[in-house]
Amino acid sequence: ADFDLVVLNGLVVHHDKTEQSDIAVKDGKIAKLVPRGGLNGASATKTIDAQGGMVMPGGVDAHVHLAEPALFGKGKSADDYETGTRSAIAGGTTTVITFAPQRKSEPSLLAALEATHERARDNCYSDYSFHLICSNAGPKAISEFEALREAGISSLKIYMTYEALQLKDSEILDVLFEARKQKIVTMIHAENGAIIDWTIKKLEEKKLFAPKYHVTSHPPVAEIEATYRAISLSGFIDVPILIVHVSSPAAASHISDAQKKGLPVYAETCPQYLFLTRKDLDKPGFEGAKCVCSPPPREGEQDHEGIWQGLENGTFTVLSSDHCPFLYDNTEIGKKACIDDEYPNGHFKYIPNGCPGLETRMALALSANRLPLQKFVEVTSTNAAKLYGLYPQKGALIPGVSDADLTIWYPEGMKEFELTNSMLHHNVDYTPYEGRTMKQWPRYTVLRGQVVWDKDNGGLVGKKGYGQFLKRDVSSLAGPVSEEEWSVEKF
Ligand code: URP
Ligand code: ZN
Ligand code: ZN
Ligand code: ZN
Repeated sequence: ADFDLVVLNGLVVHHDKTEQSDIAVKDGKIAKLVPRGGLNGASATKTIDAQGGMVMPGGVDAHVHLAEPALFGKGKSADDYETGTRSAIAGGTTTVITFAPQRKSEPSLLAALEATHERARDNCYSDYSFHLICSNAGPKAISEFEALREAGISSLKIYMTYEALQLKDSEILDVLFEARKQKIVTMIHAENGAIIDWTIKKLEEKKLFAPKYHVTSHPPVAEIEATYRAISLSGFIDVPILIVHVSSPAAASHISDAQKKGLPVYAETCPQYLFLTRKDLDKPGFEGAKCVCSPPPREGEQDHEGIWQGLENGTFTVLSSDHCPFLYDNTEIGKKACIDDEYPNGHFKYIPNGCPGLETRMALALSANRLPLQKFVEVTSTNAAKLYGLYPQKGALIPGVSDADLTIWYPEGMKEFELTNSMLHHNVDYTPYEGRTMKQWPRYTVLRGQVVWDKDNGGLVGKKGYGQFLKRDVSSLAGPVSEEEWSVEKF
């Protein structure tokens, strides 16, 4: 046969154009992209008729927690690399960038990288890479940045909160300074840990322990202040950062102000800040624990609208899941519901922070029908590939260049259905989006030319171990403003 796979009659949506095209795949790569009908007469081992449905570059989810040990002393990830990447492809995501977490007691980042490779190797359904979480920014870790780049890692995550992970401002500067030299993108969890801890104490004095007080204990000001500080520190060093999981429109306005000044400040938001509100944490019993994440869901529709607008106008570079899976009902320590003898009704501060969302990210956002389609592709795929050094291998459909990773949707959408956790392929016993009305789901997911998800014929047809580790290059989005070496004498 001329080709391994052809995809005919699709409405092909790229980040910058939409066209009626046919696609041919050979040896895992996009071989041809031609106007509809242009492959008539070509022979192929497999043919997919998209029937007018949308065909997009496979989703790239650049914020995923899998197989993490109990880093915050609050339980370990419910999903490992097998169950997490399985749910990725079932939801149209072909590449995940997960975290390789360093413990504060572990001076080396390379050791954390090796341990994470061990967990992922031969276990993945999707392609994958890692961001290093740097929680011990001592001289050893800083000296390893260059070796990380050689190992194909061009991004780090640091935290401004959580005792087990938090860096001081001077340590953040150490990280940013070396990141600038090594062309590493630093992701920053921007919440002010002191404001959060102080507020938790005030709530405890009043014996306010219910899940909904998680929102109260993470007020917008904690996010706003830390976001402004992160922008200030990165501006001082003149180095690109990405503020992760932005929930509050007021924090987003600091980001867009920085962007208007031409600073390389990037930002991420997540479905939980588009679809959940603080009311989702105020449910009978301990149900609200299911929607505990940090930063928390905010007040209501106005906040959602502000975040959608930030996606639409480019303030947000990426829409990631922040998939951070914990079991709700589990006798092991670290269960999401965290009810014990001391707190028979539970205590919000012991609830592990994070929600599952890897599988639902793309379908939720598309079903909302709120973003122009090219913008949807940009924020769910292309921009993550650009920012983290995977473009144009990933995030694009360029013949001879891009991997043949495709997400193919149902033509005209689907008959409306209600999302239930039983549909999903993660190892979590709930979804925060239970019962939500959906209009779309990926019909096919293709990874390097192989159909790995075929919703109507076998569902999950990919193989564990087919997913490959991706060595990443530097970001192709704008870097430092100045090309000169940083010098303290400038100031
Ligand atoms: O609540 C959250 N976001 N948990 C995941 C860990 C993190 O900070 O991203
Ligand atoms: Zn975070
Ligand atoms: Zn809403
Ligand atoms: Zn996260």
